[in-house]
Amino acid sequence: MENKPLSVLITGATGSIGQALALQYAALGNHLVLQGRNQDALTQIQQQCEAQGATVTVVPFDLQEWQAWYEWLLAFCQEQPAFDLVIANAGVNINHGPDNAGETWPDIQRLLAVNVQAVFATVQAVLPAMRARGKGQIALLSSLAAYRGLPVTPSYSASKAAIKVYGEGLRDWLAPQGVQVNVIMPGYVSSPMCDDMPGPKPFLWAAPKAAAHIRKRLAANAPRISFPFPLNFGTWGLSVIHPSVSAWILRRLHYEG
Ligand SMILES: NC(=O)c1ccc[n+]([C@@H]2O[C@H](COP(=O)([O-])OP(=O)(O)OC[C@H]3O[C@@H](n4cnc5c(N)ncnc54)[C@H](OP(=O)(O)O)[C@@H]3O)[C@@H](O)[C@H]2O)c1
Repeated sequence: MENKPLSVLITGATGSIGQALALQYAALGNHLVLQGRNQDALTQIQQQCEAQGATVTVVPFDLQEWQAWYEWLLAFCQEQPAFDLVIANAGVNINHGPDNAGETWPDIQRLLAVNVQAVFATVQAVLPAMRARGKGQIALLSSLAAYRGLPVTPSYSASKAAIKVYGEGLRDWLAPQGVQVNVIMPGYVSSPMCDDMPGPKPFLWAAPKAAAHIRKRLAANAPRISFPFPLNFGTWGLSVIHPSVSAWILRRLHYEG
């Protein structure tokens, strides 16, 4: 898929991982559709991608309006050839706050809208054209936080677990139809979202390193792109041991919230 010009949609292209991914796919002949909210950041990443030879369409959109996003994207997909690659990357994180007051209901609603409903809306909008063509690839940004609910970020863990199992189910359903689906589960990647998160951040990667790894593994159609290795193994381990034992380990590691 990587040897010919690609059309690529990246949501959250104004964030750290999204920008790094956009630059990974910004090559001569490629057409990038980049979504974000921050217009200045969108213009900046557009110029950088165009300087690398890509043509770029920017789409300022607040994904909390996921119904409007679905309608816009469905119509867009009906007017042009199906995307080769769609990366549903936009996301938000929330936590209990510095005084441990707990997550607020408005924050939880915002998180579910962006991390879950907008991702499902994106898939539903791009899928008909991909299935009709019998070809395409959809990558969903989950997180290592999806393996086991973290006391510091329960809603975020839940939203990323939803994306993980959604992607796994979609992958097996769509593979015979020529559509590849990949679940991406990063550990800590330097970004504004990561900076805002409480708790320790071991094995932190820079966004360009994460994006290069993601692109390589997407080209290989890896079902689960989880990294970095030690944290991946550790968080997976937490999901398979007894919950009381994983709770004890999380307390010892200062993830108690
Ligand atoms: N960084 C990590 O350690 C880490 C680890 C695991 C998974 N992830 C996942 O990786 C993805 C990218 O995260 P990141 O680290 O690059 O975070 P980031 O730098 O904070 O970027 C978040 C992106 O999501 C967009 N976004 C947020 N709310 C939005 C809304 N209401 N409407 C439209 N766009 C919205 C932001 O757009 P604007 O800035 O334009 O508002 C931005 O482009 C997320 O899904 C995250 O959960 C990150």
